[in-house]
Amino acid sequence: MKTDDGLLYVIAGASRSGKTAWCVREVRRTPRAMAWDPEAQWCDLPGWRKVTTRADLMKWAQHPGPMKIAFVPGSDLKGDFDFWCDAVMFAGRYRGPLAAVAEELADVTTPSKAPGAWGILLRRGLKRGISIYAISQRWAEADKTAIGNASQYVCFAMRGDDVAYMARKTRIPEADLAKLQALEWVAVNAYGNRIGGGRLRF
Ligand SMILES: Nc1ncnc2c1ncn2[C@@H]1O[C@H](COP(=O)(O)OP(=O)(O)OP(=O)(O)O)[C@@H](O)[C@H]1O
Ligand SMILES: [Mg+2]
Repeated sequence: MKTDDGLLYVIAGASRSGKTAWCVREVRRTPRAMAWDPEAQWCDLPGWRKVTTRADLMKWAQHPGPMKIAFVPGSDLKGDFDFWCDAVMFAGRYRGPLAAVAEELADVTTPSKAPGAWGILLRRGLKRGISIYAISQRWAEADKTAIGNASQYVCFAMRGDDVAYMARKTRIPEADLAKLQALEWVAVNAYGNRIGGGRLRF
């Protein structure tokens, strides 16, 4: 069966290194996107709609046309994240391909296997045409399923132990990661072959 598979992007880097700005650029021309937006950044971008309740999120997940939906969670961070993953899976499976952006995964996952609906989204979402942008400052503290199944790794400037950790996971030489400056990135595929890089400009 022919499927239009999505890609799983694992995006790493220190605070203010450029992760969110890179993703914003990547999904700019995507007609359908949903963001997990705990810091309420995506909801203020042009063309994006802010959603704060599970009921509204489910309503938008059923929308078949173009949409850019930023879900700003409440106090039940992990419960809301699970709900968001379910909503994304529904939207991709029954309504059409889309991009899913998950900000700061270390806050809602742990270094073990991906939990609940996030695990399902990672394992089955790509086949449904969902492209996933998985973002964390510290992948050593976020889930192993995402980092182990990435189609592409996008690394921004990082510090300390994160350099060695990401070098091991991505097969980008440690020295190349260590010399990255703010807003500079390097991207490799799942086999460690370099497929991109550069410096963000605004
Ligand atoms: N549209 C823009 N115009 C100018 N500067 C920008 C723009 N978007 C982001 N920046 C700057 O680029 C830098 C990187 O920002 P970004 O939000 O991408 O960081 P980040 O890696 O996502 O950090 P964090 O982990 O804290 O979320 C910041 O200094 C930010 O102020
Ligand atoms: Mg960010």
